[in-house]
Parts: sequence; C-alpha cells; structure tokens
Amino acid sequence: MDRTNKTAVVYFSLTGHSQRLATRLARALGGELIALNAPSYRSGLLGYLHAGFDSVRKKCVLAPQRFTTLADFDRLVLCGPVWTSYPATPLRALLRSDIDLPASVNVFLTTGSQSSAEKALTVAEQDLGRALTATAFLVNSAEGTEQENTVVEAFLRTVGAVAQDEAS
Ligand SMILES: Cc1cc2nc3c(=O)[nH]c(=O)nc-3n(C[C@H](O)[C@H](O)[C@H](O)COP(=O)(O)O)c2cc1C
Repeated sequence: MDRTNKTAVVYFSLTGHSQRLATRLARALGGELIALNAPSYRSGLLGYLHAGFDSVRKKCVLAPQRFTTLADFDRLVLCGPVWTSYPATPLRALLRSDIDLPASVNVFLTTGSQSSAEKALTVAEQDLGRALTATAFLVNSAEGTEQENTVVEAFLRTVGAVAQDEAS
C-alpha cells in the first residue's frame, strides 16, 4: 500500500452506488481507493436478504482486510450504503474494530431515503466513539444531478483536502 497518500477512501458497495461515489471522492481528494473485503455479502436476492438480516441483528464482523492500520493516513473517508437505517454492517465493523484510524474520520453514505441516512450517520458516530469530521449522504434519486455536485463539494470542503481540479 502506498502510504505517501494522505487520504484513504475506504468503501463497501453491494450494488455499485457507493463504489461510483467513492471513486469520485478518491479522484477529487487524490486519495487511495480501498475496497472493504466483505465476502459474506454478494449481490442478488439472497445477498440482500443476508445483508438486511445481519443489519437488523447488528451482526458486524470485519473480514480480514489488506490493511492492518489506517493510522498512517491523514484522513479516512468511509463510503457505503445504508442498510435498515444503519450504516452497512462492513462499515460498522470497521468503525468498531481495533484497526487504528486517523484523527479525521469522514463518512459519506448512499441511501434510498434522507431519513434513513440521518439515523445511520448518528449510528456511525456512535460506532466510532468520537466525532466525525465530515458527514454526508447522497439519495439514489439525486445521483447525477446538480444536487450530487452540491453535496459532494460541501463534503470535500469540510474534509479539508480538496484537490485543485475539484475546487476550481
Ligand atoms: C439490505 C439493504 C437494506 C437497505 N436498507 C435501506 C434503508 O433502511 N433505508 C434506505 O433509505 N435505503 C436502504 N437501502 C438502499 C441502499 O441504502 C441504497 O440503494 C444504497 O445506495 C446502495 O448502495 P450500494 O449500491 O453501494 O450497495 C437498503 C439496501 C439494501 C441492499
């Protein structure tokens, strides 16, 4: 892993919404894009049922990752979906884990609805056990709209590490 990168954009995505967003964020931040390893969750009906069941049961188990620490990054941007009004269980597992994280932890969720995302961001902060630096969510229906640009740009400004090309 290239630790000259200052931003880690760690994401989990079952159906692609969060992957697209994480890729955009990593490009804007000049960050390293890292997919969370969560082999329990696959796309398809059975995968969704499994995801929803684990989320309701708050079963958050972190599978082995290709990193053992993220503390040598200046900041972490964690991106993924809302499941049953919580952050998806792989995100929760990382926030609760013993893996050392940077002081600046930022969470950007993709979601079907605003109300679920607001609840999930509160839970993400509780899982981390300290304040998040920046939070945002993107409702699926706003993807590709001017609203997406507005939300992403506000998030990047709060994260405080905007690459020149995104800021201009
Ligand atoms: C198991 C499961 C549970 C979900 N629960 C919610 C929910 O409670 N509220 C909501 O607004 N969207 C919910 N969604 C929709 C996702 O949050 C949304 O489509 C998200 O963008 C998917 O991201 P992904 O494509 O990166 O996996 C759920 C999706 C799945 C698969």
